[in-house]
Amino acid sequence: MERDVKEILISESQLQERVRELGAGITQDYAGKELILIGVLKGANVFMSDLMRRIDMPIEIDFISVSSYGNSTVSSGVVRILKDLDTEIQGKHVIIVEDIVDSGLTLSYLKKNFETRRPESVRVCTLLDKPERRKVPIEIDYRGFTIPDEFIVGYGIDYAEGYRNLPYVASLREGVYA
Ligand code: IMP
Ligand code: MG
Repeated sequence: MERDVKEILISESQLQERVRELGAGITQDYAGKELILIGVLKGANVFMSDLMRRIDMPIEIDFISVSSYGNSTVSSGVVRILKDLDTEIQGKHVIIVEDIVDSGLTLSYLKKNFETRRPESVRVCTLLDKPERRKVPIEIDYRGFTIPDEFIVGYGIDYAEGYRNLPYVASLREGVYA
């Protein structure tokens, strides 16, 4: 796995420090409110696990799993729900937790979908933001890092279902895609 890595872009300690800051920000902003974090599987799994432990107040969590018809490096914008929420979000404050916002199509679909369920509010928290590739405008309320338009893996994020368990965010050698 490691020998496929071209460059470590965000180290374990940088990730931990930023996640701590995001958690502290969310704790301040939602004090006294009924908050549910909704993680988008599978990519946001690792980020979600770290983030929720940096939020110092009672919260609920849930996960949704979506597939965006397309190949493994490009998302098409057509989103299909593979696993829906188990929880009612009506009247609650929702934060959608994502690994990467790329075209923005997945999140824009999810935000609209959740809004029909009449939550109190819906905000977005993403670990990584690739603004260069945005196809639809999307408001990001909590952002870990802005990254250039390069394909990355690790910390939950995959290439063809691999590399999710790398503890850092890294780019892959060109030969890996061949
Ligand atoms: P989009 O914003 O709808 O284009 O899709 C975002 C999703 O595409 C993310 O949740 C990832 O699953 C995937 N994705 C986007 N960029 C990358 C990348 O660099 N590496 C791995 N997955 C990516
Ligand atoms: Mg994903």
